[in-house]
Amino acid sequence: MNQLPRIAKLYIVSIIVLAVFFSFFLAINFTMPNVYLLLLFILLSFLTESLTIRFSNEAAVSISFATVFSAIVILGPLGAVISSSLGIMLRYVKTPDGVLRHVFNTPIYKILFNGSMLIIYVGVSSIVYYSFDVRVADPLFYNNFFALFSTIVTYLLINTIIITGLFTLLQNKNFFSLFFSKFLWAIPNLLVIAILGIFISLLYLHYGVLIMLLFFAPLLFARHSFQLYVDLKNYYMQTMAALANAVEAKDKYTKGHSERVAFLAEEFGKYIKLNPKQINVLRKAGLLHDIGKIGIDDSILNKPAKLTNQEMLSIKDHPELGVKILKDVNFLKGVHEAILHHHERYDGTGYPHGLSGKQIPFNAAILTVVDAYDAMTSDRAYRSALPLQESIDILKQEAGFQFHPYIAEKFVEMITTTTDEKIINFKQTV
Ligand SMILES: [Fe+2]
Repeated sequence: MNQLPRIAKLYIVSIIVLAVFFSFFLAINFTMPNVYLLLLFILLSFLTESLTIRFSNEAAVSISFATVFSAIVILGPLGAVISSSLGIMLRYVKTPDGVLRHVFNTPIYKILFNGSMLIIYVGVSSIVYYSFDVRVADPLFYNNFFALFSTIVTYLLINTIIITGLFTLLQNKNFFSLFFSKFLWAIPNLLVIAILGIFISLLYLHYGVLIMLLFFAPLLFARHSFQLYVDLKNYYMQTMAALANAVEAKDKYTKGHSERVAFLAEEFGKYIKLNPKQINVLRKAGLLHDIGKIGIDDSILNKPAKLTNQEMLSIKDHPELGVKILKDVNFLKGVHEAILHHHERYDGTGYPHGLSGKQIPFNAAILTVVDAYDAMTSDRAYRSALPLQESIDILKQEAGFQFHPYIAEKFVEMITTTTDEKIINFKQTV
């Protein structure tokens, strides 16, 4: 905890203290559930928290809200808070980098902060649920979705405020943009998972514990299938990174270039609000845009002097060679176009087809700008890196000639105004 900023430490301690007081309030005002049921829900909560599927450090899918919601219905506020907070504190999870995290190797402040968050938002949303007269088992409940909706919105609102608050303090990001991106994305997700929670509660209320537990078997199986799908997608990305590394192994001056182009193209796609599918294509195309260089002679790629006309022609083959290499890889069909045309120029004097203006596919035109920016700000065989400001000036001067004017303008805007730590760090390393 020592390495955290002072304000973040204060924030974490405040949340923990607030959770302690709130626990006393709940213990005084609500009854303790049956101890066996409570133990069962601690176990279910531990399992669903441990089986969270992580895509990255920021994105994860979990069915733990189904357990939390059924705990609210079956155990009441106090039981829901105890089972869900213990479940998250004791969880056993694999991080995206493959490290297993559990109660014995996680800093105590993180465990307490996680548990405290759940005490607060599960506790408050339980109180909201019980403030309505209708219950999940009543047919009337389904005539009044306001009860369900209010419980979910309260849960999500407090959850997002606490987490976004911490991220804002740690990463210096804008609270509101972070808040809305997380909050709006999560509402439909939680509504669907709440239906599972209702189903679990109804099974318990009508058929008892054993039938309720039977329901977890297909749920865990579905989770397993989804994990396989996520793993497979990760293997695809790793294969692409390996291909990109194969190009860079031939050319020592382009080390990390493909990864940087992929990162910046993806960030730029988000900046101009492209749809997730197109952003995904940009990331893949960024990683693989120079894959065709595998087929070009090393002595040409690493030549520290000016290239002859013949050598230049050979280099200019790499976009078409790249597409030939990838043509049979089905899941990369969408990126061919961007790879093929990433050296076209807006004024029509580029290669391989001499396309101009709007004839150039938009993704390819994005790669052209990002590729040029990274090339200018990195050392090459024949020159050292240009200063950041000079690279930005060239992007501006070449808008409408080499570069698509809108893309060049927006890219310069992103680079010069961003508050995103990752892009700022990237700028500082160039
Ligand atoms: Fe290229």
